[in-house]
Amino acid sequence: MWMLLLLLLLALPARAQDLMGHGGPVRALALLPGGTLASAGFDAAIIWWDPGAGRALHVARWHGGAVNALAALPDGSLASAGEDGRIALWPAGGADGPRQVLQAAGASVAALAAAPDGSLAAGSWDGSVRRFAVDGSGRLLGSQDGPVTALAWRSDGVLLSAGQDGLVRAWEADGPVTVAQRGLPRTALAALPDGGFADGGTDGRILLGALTLVAGDRPVVALATAPGLLAAATAGGAVSLWSLPEGRLLHRLDGPAVPVWSLAFAADAATLWTAGQDRRIRRWQVASGAALGPLAPEPRAADAPAAAAFRACAACHAVSAEAPPLAGPSLHHLFGRRMGSLPGYGYSPRLARGDVTWSPATVAQLFTEGPDVMLPGTRMPVQRLQDPDDLAALLGYLEQATR
Ligand code: HEC
Repeated sequence: MWMLLLLLLLALPARAQDLMGHGGPVRALALLPGGTLASAGFDAAIIWWDPGAGRALHVARWHGGAVNALAALPDGSLASAGEDGRIALWPAGGADGPRQVLQAAGASVAALAAAPDGSLAAGSWDGSVRRFAVDGSGRLLGSQDGPVTALAWRSDGVLLSAGQDGLVRAWEADGPVTVAQRGLPRTALAALPDGGFADGGTDGRILLGALTLVAGDRPVVALATAPGLLAAATAGGAVSLWSLPEGRLLHRLDGPAVPVWSLAFAADAATLWTAGQDRRIRRWQVASGAALGPLAPEPRAADAPAAAAFRACAACHAVSAEAPPLAGPSLHHLFGRRMGSLPGYGYSPRLARGDVTWSPATVAQLFTEGPDVMLPGTRMPVQRLQDPDDLAALLGYLEQATR
């Protein structure tokens, strides 16, 4: 019997598992003080996660387009920015709306970086570099030729920017100083504790002092550092780990071979998170380079295979009445319930309207049309179930588990 369940689980299409958290590629990750992980993506959503439990704590959809960058501020709040040119500060743990909106950058914001003193820097596609004080007041430091692709605060408190123009600049008090001229567009940047920096380019190479590290043959799109470690990801999906300062290759992670847009080390540097085109946040053990499984709770084997269809939902929804609050409302007693009616849950205005009664037919409609089509304005990330068998399994599971 157990063998059979295991076989059923293994035979499940990957599709069912792809519906996890974000409704599009994940563009940015940030580890917040206290261990909460934040992710943001092309689906305009920001998700706050409890990475230990694999649960989503909150989802916000406020930006008017892709969220390109996140930065963790020392007080636990999160800064987000994106395609819509807006920069927002969110309270620790997340909320439906920002606690403060910073002066708009105008052009799409490509990079954010938070300094240990709480000041924030933003770099845009139009080449502008802005600095915001802790109170949110901002000023334009200047503009470089072509898009800013990455920012980092050097250990001496000076802001560094990397550009499409192939330069790395240091924003000294009296203006920008070129600190590296590479000839090829710079696509990633990280500051190192020794006062140096590492910058990656479109050729897949990372330059770090006298060292050249090869991340792959596609552009380096993300760099992350932890004491004695450097991680890099490329647009080809290669993820590499090196030990510093010597630059010895520790591991090449066996990832999904699709672009990996963001990396973050856990506070103890024992775990590395990667996220990208496949919409998943993956966990890796730094010491061994081994995959630790996706960031989502596994259904109990006893519930297989119907529960597997719910795997895409489990990060955000409980099915029992007594489960702890998650990012989405509990689905306990879902069928027969009016939309947006669970007491105590803060729904978006669209769901609060309550003009739908949940039944297998309306839930089927929700996931064949997609939440963005059936309920425009909802905070739930876009999810679609194309396969009628997956949909039937989901409805069957909901029918018995939410009773
Ligand atoms: C990343 C988190 C997330 C994922 C994943 C997710 N949801 Fe949701 N869901 C939400 C949020 C947030 C809301 C409330 C949306 C709002 O208020 O606009 C919601 C609302 C709902 C509602 C309406 C509930 C009510 O009380 O009216 C249903 C039904 C639902 N989700 C089912 C699902 C199912 C089934 C899946 C998996 C296929 C799923 N969701 C995946 C976050 C998520």
